[in-house]
Amino acid sequence: MEAPSILPLALETISLRHEGQQILDRINMLVARRRTTVVLGPNGAGKSMLLKVAHGLIAPDSGAVRWSGLSGAEAHARQAMVFQKPVLLNRSVLANIVHAVRLQGVPRAAAVHRAHTALDHVGLGDMAVRPARSLSGGEQQRLSFARAWARDPEVLFLDEPTASLDPAASWSIEQIIVDLRREGRTAILSTHDLAMARRLADDLVFLHRGRALEAGPAAQLFADPKTPELAAFLKGELHW
Ligand SMILES: Nc1ncnc2c1ncn2[C@@H]1O[C@H](COP(=O)(O)OP(=O)(O)OP(=O)(O)O)[C@@H](O)[C@H]1O
Ligand SMILES: [Mg+2]
Repeated sequence: MEAPSILPLALETISLRHEGQQILDRINMLVARRRTTVVLGPNGAGKSMLLKVAHGLIAPDSGAVRWSGLSGAEAHARQAMVFQKPVLLNRSVLANIVHAVRLQGVPRAAAVHRAHTALDHVGLGDMAVRPARSLSGGEQQRLSFARAWARDPEVLFLDEPTASLDPAASWSIEQIIVDLRREGRTAILSTHDLAMARRLADDLVFLHRGRALEAGPAAQLFADPKTPELAAFLKGELHW
């Protein structure tokens, strides 16, 4: 964590169309160092797409993703993403993490050590030798989280990190997200879970139909929504 920060991250007028649909519409967003940024919005709002564009997995049709002056490749090596649907190799739980860490040039013994630490962190320490794809949905999500964390990223994109977790697992992942900031990391997460957003967000971006209708400090947006859409969403009355 001694290297210069890749933050702040600036998204500048990002637009993305797909088959005639405007999926992201002129999004501006600023992610500051060590502030948990939550992208909030109903199903289909564009949260997953926005995270994938920010992480460099999808090129926008227009606009720019800027990482504090660094090239895309340098910045990419210092980020990790946990996807809404886990993508796991057909190998053991441990091997999934070791493989991801080894890709960073870490020697095998050190990678194995890191993998065990990461598994203990998410409560999967006893499942190291199980085939990854035999885990339950929630366990797979925790494994994905452990794999991202084990890569020691400065920035973590977490797409609906607790969506398929039971209450206890969800609580423990939330605690880990809180700890990330103490470790000097910055989390950018998407959710439609208002309670979690209230607990975790420093900054909030409210997305609706591909547009960032509101953005700013979370406490301010929760207390005083300016758009009828966010006001309705906070009351549980806006579905898409
Ligand atoms: N691969 C794809 N091809 C075509 N359209 C897509 C694709 N992925 C997403 N979309 C569309 O883009 C829009 C935004 O999708 P996205 O997955 O970003 O929403 P979301 O806010 O993450 O929703 P959810 O809360 O359900 O995860 C949706 O209308 C979706 O149907
Ligand atoms: Mg999504």
